[in-house]
Amino acid sequence: MLEIRKLRAGYGAINVLWDVDLSFAEKQLTTIVGPNGAGKSTLLKTIMGLVPPSQGEITLRGQSLAQYRTWDMAEQGVVLVPEGRLVFRDMSVEENLIMGAFPKQKRGAMTRNIERAYELFPRLKERRKQLAGSLSGGEAQMVAMARGMMAEPRVLLIDEPSLGLAPVIVQEIFNILRKLKNEGVTIVLVEQNTHMALSVAERVYMMRSGRVVMDKPAAEVDVTKLHDLYFALEG
Ligand SMILES: Nc1ncnc2c1ncn2[C@@H]1O[C@H](COP(=O)(O)OP(=O)(O)O)[C@@H](O)[C@H]1O
Ligand SMILES: [Mg+2]
Repeated sequence: MLEIRKLRAGYGAINVLWDVDLSFAEKQLTTIVGPNGAGKSTLLKTIMGLVPPSQGEITLRGQSLAQYRTWDMAEQGVVLVPEGRLVFRDMSVEENLIMGAFPKQKRGAMTRNIERAYELFPRLKERRKQLAGSLSGGEAQMVAMARGMMAEPRVLLIDEPSLGLAPVIVQEIFNILRKLKNEGVTIVLVEQNTHMALSVAERVYMMRSGRVVMDKPAAEVDVTKLHDLYFALEG
């Protein structure tokens, strides 16, 4: 569905991604794990057109995404929930959701999609009038995810959703990811919590120093060995 071929990208003179090949299958959840600085966030930003590739190709259903700008990506069905659970702090939960309905052809479905978001995230319904800046980290993450879903993405890219959250909230976030996958959303999950990531993923990539160092079906990955590899590589 989403294919990345020989992708090279970085920041000015500093190259970060070195000829990465990744393939994200439709309606599956693919996780990308790897130590800090591996280039995982840079990869997601490059897919979104936030970082320009210097080489290689990104295609969605066989069509190159090169001509689309970041703000056109939602209309192409690709949405990024960035790391750091960025919300509009001075807006209510519901106003944050409305901000997610910016693609023109999704605006008509806004009311329905808000209801759908509240079904997925009942906590947000309770807090619909509350300022997003007053939410807990877990709730802010839910707002960021629910806002992304307002564009009805076919591909959801999500960067470190569980970072710094309490285990019970992490569980809740992963239950929602599982639900979205079952609804047919193609998900690319960058995650440090390899245990949880493996429990929902069909496929696992490990990145290190801007390169893909492992590519396996999740069912074939032994989490203990994965950790060994992770730390061996980190040294
Ligand atoms: N805006 C930026 N400008 C320059 N270098 C950056 C920028 N963002 C990230 N980097 C560098 O790119 C490398 C990969 O970072 P990143 O993609 O954030 O990795 P990860 O998400 O796997 O932790 C790191 O060496 C980081 O310092
Ligand atoms: Mg990152």
